[in-house]
Amino acid sequence: MKQVKARVLSNVEVLRYPGAACFLMQVDAAAIAADGRPGQFLMLKCGKNSLLRRPLSIHGVSADGRVRLLYRVGIDAGGQAEGRGTGWLSRLGEGDSVDILGPLGNGFSVEAASRSLLLVAGGIGIAPLGFLAETAVAGGREVVLLMGARSAAGILPQNMLPSGVTCVFTTDDGSAGKKGPVTDILREYMARADQVYACGPRAMLEKVASVPGLGPAQVSLEVRMGCGAGACYGCSIRTVRGMRRVCREGPVFHIKDIIWQEVSI
Ligand SMILES: Cc1cc2nc3c(=O)[nH]c(=O)nc-3n(C[C@H](O)[C@H](O)[C@H](O)COP(=O)(O)OP(=O)(O)OC[C@H]3O[C@@H](n4cnc5c(N)ncnc54)[C@H](O)[C@@H]3O)c2cc1C
Ligand code: FES
Repeated sequence: MKQVKARVLSNVEVLRYPGAACFLMQVDAAAIAADGRPGQFLMLKCGKNSLLRRPLSIHGVSADGRVRLLYRVGIDAGGQAEGRGTGWLSRLGEGDSVDILGPLGNGFSVEAASRSLLLVAGGIGIAPLGFLAETAVAGGREVVLLMGARSAAGILPQNMLPSGVTCVFTTDDGSAGKKGPVTDILREYMARADQVYACGPRAMLEKVASVPGLGPAQVSLEVRMGCGAGACYGCSIRTVRGMRRVCREGPVFHIKDIIWQEVSI
């Protein structure tokens, strides 16, 4: 784990829909880009006086030392950012700097023999899965990405989707892709996949876990964190294997290990 003052290269709003906006931030952080793996996260200090850092997944890295972050900012009825930390981040611009700790957590694991991966993203759950998709395609694997959103306004523009991946969309209101929750189409694609990966709201993950016949699957959990580095035990959850710190033993877990009533997001 490293602590770096990373220069912001760009920070742009890429989506806006009722109640929220999503930003894509690129920072210059070669030490993190070199070590970061899909499913790992960073802790960002959001302002000089901020006590608690905010955990964000690594959305991608580049050989030139860039790290990409994709984050959601809640927006209130008056158009103001609700989250103190993510609101602060959204106001950063090119040339500003941000204090980052990471990479943290275990990350996704992909079996050497797996040829075909199925990724299930709900909303901002695409942040860690986009990085996994890119890496898997680069490694010669076939990737199908199922993405669920409330409406078409919540779907990333085409140029932000990982290339070489088959993307299938669902929306709650039917304004893009198939109407209904993303879990409705999971069974159609499951049979061909060697491994399944999911990230999104708790309710979605719980539904994925209960799909009959689901094979080996990993989920990335986004619970509230304190230190992010294993010291405060603030992120502990009870699993079928005992207590686990999401920041240290996670955030990626085998789906069958999770006791969903124990997870509050
Ligand atoms: C491992 C991990 C990876 C994550 N990756 C992403 C990502 O890539 N993109 C993204 O948009 N979000 C991600 N999240 C969720 C993100 O950390 C929270 O949305 C964010 O911290 C909220 O901060 P805020 O300043 O907007 O809200 P505030 O209301 O100001 O936050 C108050 C406190 O609650 C915590 N908190 C509030 N909501 C959440 C939440 N849903 N999850 C965790 N902590 C929360 C904050 O960290 C902070 O300590 C991730 C969470 C975890 C644990
Ligand atoms: S957040 Fe402190 S131990 Fe996980």
